[in-house]
Amino acid sequence: APEAKNLPPNVPEWSQSLGDGVVSRPYGRPSKFEADVIRRDVEWLTASRQSSVSFTPLHQLEGIITPNGLGFERHHGGIAEIDPAEHRLMIHGLVEKPLMLTLEDIKRFPRVNRIAFLECAANSGMEWKGAQLNGCQFTHGMIHCVMYTGVPLKRLLEEAGLKTNAKWLLPEGADAAAMTRSVPIEKALDDAIVAYAMNGEALYPEHGYPLRLVLPGWQGNMWVKWLRRIKVGDEPWHTREETSKYTALMPDGQARRFTWAMDAKSVITNPSPQAPIHGKGFTVLSGLAWSGRGAIKGVDVSLDGGRNWRAARLDGPVLDKALTRFYYEFDWNGEPLLLQSRARDETGYVQPTKAALRQHRGLNSIYHNNGIQTWHVLPSGEIENVEVA
Ligand code: MTE
Repeated sequence: APEAKNLPPNVPEWSQSLGDGVVSRPYGRPSKFEADVIRRDVEWLTASRQSSVSFTPLHQLEGIITPNGLGFERHHGGIAEIDPAEHRLMIHGLVEKPLMLTLEDIKRFPRVNRIAFLECAANSGMEWKGAQLNGCQFTHGMIHCVMYTGVPLKRLLEEAGLKTNAKWLLPEGADAAAMTRSVPIEKALDDAIVAYAMNGEALYPEHGYPLRLVLPGWQGNMWVKWLRRIKVGDEPWHTREETSKYTALMPDGQARRFTWAMDAKSVITNPSPQAPIHGKGFTVLSGLAWSGRGAIKGVDVSLDGGRNWRAARLDGPVLDKALTRFYYEFDWNGEPLLLQSRARDETGYVQPTKAALRQHRGLNSIYHNNGIQTWHVLPSGEIENVEVA
């Protein structure tokens, strides 16, 4: 409870003396009262911290941009701390002129700015067999959305000169895991970026400082961090990351591979299990929607587990392959609710129910779970992760 001494009509403590001066905080931090707005992990998912994942606190963020200190992290070999002066990007293989570029070289190419979401293919993966984790941070928090600055990959490949049989790229990271994935040349020549900045400042070490590959709309695993090498070839390499991992075991026992684009998806971030409703009355329902195939066209919200749907209000920029914010305001009368959101993108694709997804994909999958999420609001305002039949 607040102390009366700081409430009207008293003069609060903080008004009675001068505050800290300029540059007392050379790099700004959030208020000390926001100390619980942090990335979190799930103990039982973490075999080792160097090969693990933390989650974005989606329920504590507004708008569509993730602050640089709060985006989820997924590392296979820990965070590489790279001295940019000693870092090089090598481009070789099926090119006329192999390149060995410094950061300074890369910054002399024309640059682009692009807001894009990055979603891990495993986001919501723990929910395949049923409702499990209590909070949108954990069910949907393997996603972030920032503005990247960098050079179009196409520009660098033109500099190297692609040979006519160049069909695939193998980007590689400089971390201890030396992450590699096969990327088809079409994506590289379309909208891929070699980025060095996020939200206006240099990439953070967690996200690949000093260079990372940005592949808008595609699964996060391919966005190689600490990028040090791009090999150009004529066929995919079938690395560990695309054979033992990041494939989908289908009901017929076959493994589906190369599922690159992230299908349309959405989640209600407030209210949600970590952000309960405090009493009856006017309530702002808020959430995020995204599609790896284009812009979000609309989001519908249900308060009764998918029986009735109403259009949510999109607010803020609605960008291609970026997070999109939606709202639905309503008067809560204290009755139990089953909250759901359903996104639709510009291709006409509609986010499926979990039942529909399982019918097609079976129960063996981990990756690419974009099924509709349900939050059960109890009369107390507390909220649980559930599924409706
Ligand atoms: N790049 C390297 N070099 N090493 C890694 O472990 N993890 C990948 C990808 N790029 C990884 C990497 C995975 S699985 C994901 S989901 C994204 O980075 C996560 O990006 P983030 O940590 O910026 O959220």
